Parts: sequence; C-alpha cells; structure tokens
Amino acid sequence: MLPFIRKDLAELTAYTPHPGGASGESAHSEIVLDRLDTNECPYDLPEELKQKLAWTYQQLIETNRYPDGGHAALKEAIAQYVNESLNAPGLGAESIPFPPLNKGGLGSESIPVPPLNKAGLGAESIPVPPLTKGGLGGVPQPKTVITADNISVGNGSDELIRSLLIATCLGGAGSIFVANPTFSMYGITATTLGIPVVSVGRNPETFEIDINAAQRAIDQNQNPPVRIVFVVHPNSPTANALTINEIEWLSSLPENILVVIDEAYFEFSQNTLADRLHQHPNWIILRTFSKAFRLASMRVGYAIAHPELTATLEKIRLPYNLPSFSQTAAEFALAQRQLLLAVIPEIISERAKLIAALTQHQKLQVWPSAANFVYLRVTTAEGESPEHKHQQIMQQLKAQGTLIRHTGGGLRITVGTPDENVRTCDRIGEIFDKS
Ligand SMILES: Cc1ncc(COP(=O)(O)O)c(C=O)c1O
Repeated sequence: MLPFIRKDLAELTAYTPHPGGASGESAHSEIVLDRLDTNECPYDLPEELKQKLAWTYQQLIETNRYPDGGHAALKEAIAQYVNESLNAPGLGAESIPFPPLNKGGLGSESIPVPPLNKAGLGAESIPVPPLTKGGLGGVPQPKTVITADNISVGNGSDELIRSLLIATCLGGAGSIFVANPTFSMYGITATTLGIPVVSVGRNPETFEIDINAAQRAIDQNQNPPVRIVFVVHPNSPTANALTINEIEWLSSLPENILVVIDEAYFEFSQNTLADRLHQHPNWIILRTFSKAFRLASMRVGYAIAHPELTATLEKIRLPYNLPSFSQTAAEFALAQRQLLLAVIPEIISERAKLIAALTQHQKLQVWPSAANFVYLRVTTAEGESPEHKHQQIMQQLKAQGTLIRHTGGGLRITVGTPDENVRTCDRIGEIFDKS
C-alpha cells in the first residue's frame, strides 16, 4: 500500500454496486441481464419523455456555464412535492406486523399497502400550501409546511449522508449508530472519514431494532458520543417500515443526537415521517430521485430538515455538486410525476405476486415488504452455512441472467417488470427443484 494512504482505509471494503456480478454490463451488452440487485424502478423514462428531456437539455443548458450552484428552482419544486405528499390522505406512520410470511404469518394479500390515491401523486390535483418563509424554523404548527429553506440537494442522497457525517462527527466529534442489517453506506462512509460506527442487531423475525440494546449502546459509547442515529423507513434490505415503538424511541432521543430517517423508498411505502419534522429539529429526512422517479443515472437526492441544518449542509457540499443535466432531469421528473409514479401500483401488485411465488418454496423464508424489493433467507440443514447457500443462489441466478443482492445475511430481490419477475421465480424454482 502506498505509504501516504491512511492505514485504516486498507481494511475497508468499498461499496460494490454489483457484488460478484456484472459491474458495467450495460444495456448494450450481448448478455441480457435482469438487474434486480439495486432497487431501481425497472422502467426507463418513456421514449416520449426522454425526447422531451433531450429537447429541454438542448434549449436550457449552456454547457460552457456552471450549473445553478444554489439549486433554487429544484429546491422550490421539491418543497412543493413534499408538501403535496404530506397532504395526501392515508399517509402516516402506522406500521405493520412483520413476521416472515411463510411461518404462519401474514399472507401476501394481507400486507396493508396504503392506497396510492391519485390525489397524492398528481401534479395539479392538490392545492399546494403557500411556500411561506420560516418552515421548520418553528412557525407552521400544527401542519408542517416545507419551504425551499428546508431542502438541501445532493449528488445522490449518498452525498448528503457524507455531508451529515462531516457536519456532526468529523474530527473525533462523534460516532454514528446503525441497527444491522441496514443500508451499508452509512457505515462505509463513516469509516472513510475515520468516524466510529456503533451497531446493534434487530429482531430476527420482525427486523425491528432492538431498542433496549440500542439505548444501551448509545448510553455506553461516550468517547466519542453518538451524534447520528441512521434509520431507513422502510429499511433496506429487510423492507420493514418503522414501527410505532421505534418511532417513539426516535422521538425520545435527545436533541444533541441527529436522527436521519432515510425515506429512499417513500414512493413505494407512502409512509413518511416528514409531517413530524416540526416537532423534532434534530430529525432529517433523506429522499432520492434514484428509485421511483427513475433517475438513478442522474444522481439526485434531497434532504428535508430544519433550515439551520440545511444551511450547514450547503456550507459543506462542493460548490457545483449537481450538474445542470441532473437538476434539469429532477425538475422534469417532478413536473411529470403523475405519469412517472403511475407505475407504482403495478410494482406493488408485482411485489405481492413475487412474494406469493417465493413463499411457495418450503426452504425460503420470505418477509412482507413496504418497498420495491423483497427480502428472503434460505433455511439450511444443520451444519450447512446459510451464507454459503445465499452466495451460491446468487451466483446460480447470475449464471442464468438474474442479478440479485446477497446482503445482510439474506437475499434481496428488486421487484422488476412482470417478465423479469416471472423469470426470477422460474429460475429460483429450478434451483430448488434440483436441490
Ligand atoms: C436506503 C438508501 N438510502 C440511500 C440510497 C442511495 O441513494 P442515491 O442514489 O440517492 O445516492 C440507497 C440506494 O440504494 C438506499 O437504499
């Protein structure tokens, strides 16, 4: 290793987008792969919209000029979308019981998916509250009103995660808390910055955070103290939304701990905690355009928080962190949200079919999902290593043309197109018929 590189980085395993897999096998590759390992929407922008976007690029973007360094128009558009989603009926934090499906638990039909009513997703269908100043600064009670001051935009929410770590923990100022399994980038990014990671486990049946262990870990780790608690709502890879108990615990955390609620999969769960931000200046919500909005290639994420926190994030980020192409695409996607989000009911119904099909296999333990992916584990005979088995299945599926993710002690399968889902189920069927 080069002697000037920090020693701790030698031991760090980087995030691998397609582990064991096909990094870079592009849409133009000879092999047609079903890419069900990174939780994107399975659909590209419709052809007509792509043409419109290309036209917009041609009209609006001067490539010799820097992008809008303050993301003004995009922040306004995001604030409007967040307000709209807050006002959609049926949203809330109510949670679902979460045993694995084929252990006498819920049938796939009984997963209460909140209705994706038109009003919530439409571009014009809801009266948008005025974008008043003040926002989470304390003014608008009881209804939360989000303004552009409450929004910060990142090069993917990954960038926002890093900025939050810099803002709170860098230089020995703090450590972070995660409950595993969860999104690996919190720990990986913290480690790249020399920030300690405190972790506990989850209930093996429901994947709820072990709250007693969590509180103990936070109380005991004072050097440096925990400054951020990261949660995903719904969690990746396990697909469970936060429960009322977990939310109560997060509410009880002191104001010197930042609670990051990552709602990367909000559009699939329609379950947000954004309406509680006004009660908690130490909470921040992260969302992304990489999933339901079909813009993973553009790298746009956003945070919703107290204006003092978003102002701090603005100080930390690089000056022109978001290319004009990405900003324009995100604004475009928001303007077209009614059309783009219209596939969500299909994805949710495909999710139910996928769960139902996988649940047929005795050897698979499958959990309900509040997101656009399904989590499962293989039950193994005594002496057989589940991790080896998971790795083997992942590789066998890859050989057949389906990429899935082996993570968190199990397998995560993104809900794909109906054809992809049928192929996945057939291929898994073949593996189990043979074994
Ligand atoms: C929970 C969670 N947060 C954040 C991200 C990253 O999102 P982005 O593409 O905006 O960086 C992902 C991506 O898979 C995710 O699963």
